[in-house]
Amino acid sequence: MLAGLVAVVAPTRAWTQAAAPAPTVSESQRVAPYAVTPDLVVTEMLKLARVGPKDFVVDLGSGDGRLVIAAVREFGARGGLGVDIDRYLVDYANAKAGEAGIGDRVQFYAQDLFATDVSRATVVTIYLFPGIMPRVRDKLWAELAPGTRVVSHQFTFPGWTPDAVANVPLPHSLNVFGRTDAELYLYTVPARPGAVSR
Ligand SMILES: C[S@@+](CC[C@H](N)C(=O)[O-])C[C@H]1O[C@@H](n2cnc3c(N)ncnc32)[C@H](O)[C@@H]1O
Repeated sequence: MLAGLVAVVAPTRAWTQAAAPAPTVSESQRVAPYAVTPDLVVTEMLKLARVGPKDFVVDLGSGDGRLVIAAVREFGARGGLGVDIDRYLVDYANAKAGEAGIGDRVQFYAQDLFATDVSRATVVTIYLFPGIMPRVRDKLWAELAPGTRVVSHQFTFPGWTPDAVANVPLPHSLNVFGRTDAELYLYTVPARPGAVSR
């Protein structure tokens, strides 16, 4: 179901081709296609999560890195991490973070999101795919401290009630697959037995 995804806009690969290292992740691990969250939606996601200087922001499936970079550069988050199975996107995101002068606070790695320890996150952002949401929910539930905020672009976690829902109208230039808006869902990880608060 690609209809829920926004424009597919891949950064050019030409600049990474000379130095592309051996992949450590496999295309078979892909659970979502690459599609960008438009910048105005990025801003609304980070506002919805109330990102600020105390936050460490993790984007699972980080694409070109825009969510984590904006969290640190525009919202003053203390740091961030992004993971993606596409090494070209990871290299591009690290280069962008370096250009923005925040390479010491932001890292991107080529790795499977399900093999990524997210326990240090205070905010998690995702834009993935409907069928994978239950598995992502179970991972976040197991690893995140109570109070951690999770913002999902477009897709809900079954059985987990959002604290807030935001609708972001998209300008005509961003209407793709008939979509004229973006739905954002904010969740807060609840206290539960065995979960350690920070
Ligand atoms: C819809 S895009 C979202 C990109 C970015 N988060 C954004 O909102 O602009 C989903 C991303 O997840 C990545 N992805 C898919 N399966 C993955 C996996 N198992 N582990 C890590 N990243 C994955 C894709 O390569 C793609 O870049």
